[in-house]
Amino acid sequence: MDYFNYKNNKLFAEDVEVEKVAAEVGTPVYIYSKATFEEHLQKIQEAYSELDTTICYSVKACGNINILKFMAGRGSGFDIVSGGELYRVLQAGGNPSKIVYAGVGKTDTEIVEALNADIGYFNIESEAELDNLIRLTKQHRRAASKQPKAALRVNPDVDPRTHTYTTTGKKETKFGVDIERARRVFADYGRESSVKLCAIHIHLGSAGHTVEPYVEAIEKILALIEQLRGDGFTIEAVDVGGGYGADYITGTAPTAADYAAAIVPLLRGKNLKLILEPGASIAANAAILATQVLYSKAGGRKKFVIVDAGMNDLIRPPLYDAFHFIWPVKVSEKFVPQQRDKDLQLVGTEVVDIVGPICESADFFARDRALPPVKRGDLLSIFTAGAYGFSMSSNYNARGRAAEVLVDGEKFSVIRKRETYEDLTALEK
Ligand SMILES: Cc1ncc(COP(=O)(O)O)c(C=O)c1O
Repeated sequence: MDYFNYKNNKLFAEDVEVEKVAAEVGTPVYIYSKATFEEHLQKIQEAYSELDTTICYSVKACGNINILKFMAGRGSGFDIVSGGELYRVLQAGGNPSKIVYAGVGKTDTEIVEALNADIGYFNIESEAELDNLIRLTKQHRRAASKQPKAALRVNPDVDPRTHTYTTTGKKETKFGVDIERARRVFADYGRESSVKLCAIHIHLGSAGHTVEPYVEAIEKILALIEQLRGDGFTIEAVDVGGGYGADYITGTAPTAADYAAAIVPLLRGKNLKLILEPGASIAANAAILATQVLYSKAGGRKKFVIVDAGMNDLIRPPLYDAFHFIWPVKVSEKFVPQQRDKDLQLVGTEVVDIVGPICESADFFARDRALPPVKRGDLLSIFTAGAYGFSMSSNYNARGRAAEVLVDGEKFSVIRKRETYEDLTALEK
């Protein structure tokens, strides 16, 4: 679900013409829909309202502070993985007690910053990290701050059935500790007075398409929690991570209500607070990347459409083999897409590769894709680009990062300026 629709054969972000944004701000440009973000958050809040639930939006998906600010205003907490993300959330006015902090390589500086901020939970990924947190807490905790709480990240060894690069909850990943070792960790650290180990965290991976892996994983950790409680430990919360599907193809992802229908009954009456860390399911559909056609050319049997966005702007297609629906911003009536799909082959389309200007063969957005005929200067929309789009962008080939624009009804504003040549060299003194 999102608020990017064709009206009178032109693409609109909410009530703003995409062409108008591109004319004023230039391309490539990320265009976000505030209503889409808010509606996704609200649907998750409603779906889990029966339980004591904290939704911690995953900052890594899309972390512009203007976005974090209105998400915080709507009651969202935040899942962070670095000192930089903590800084962003605090800048945005996020509630520190609703922050959960994962990541296998937290530095001492980052841990102390999070201790000073009184975050909700440190999501602990190894015994060595917990040792370090305890040591730093003893050295640095201020008298006024709360006793830090920790959740042990456990590997439930469940396959989320997604790309190997986005699979995190199986054995032999670098994340968390094996479920068989969790009791040992609690035996060693569960009675520690400086850091309260009182929750379990899992994150299966990203870009899931099905509910079943969550059911399987939650059943496993509920059994673990029962054992831990039997051993005399207090477990107050379970954080089931993120990874819920987004509609890269229209109507293919389970909805928040679908996930909740399977998850809530498992947790009902278990005296556990629930934490969720959705990223893509909130942000992916909340943006497009608008880009302009520079050139068309033939190469062997192939046709290429070369656009002004590159893999430095959106790396998901080469990195994850990810599908993004791509379509012209202005079309004739017969090309108005009724849905976003891999096989949308309307009469009159051409099969092309849509590629960027970067000096890498991996710089592509789509291969062998049917597209209505386009010419130099036409605008294309790369849909469902809100998650891991701008946040994964880089300056490769000395390209300034794209501008970010937030649309709110009939209004739009630039929430991050396009980077200039001066920005590229500003730190190189
Ligand atoms: C620990 C953790 N939580 C939540 C997320 C968000 O995942 P998604 O954007 O797929 O919902 C991630 C993504 O990598 C993660 O590593």
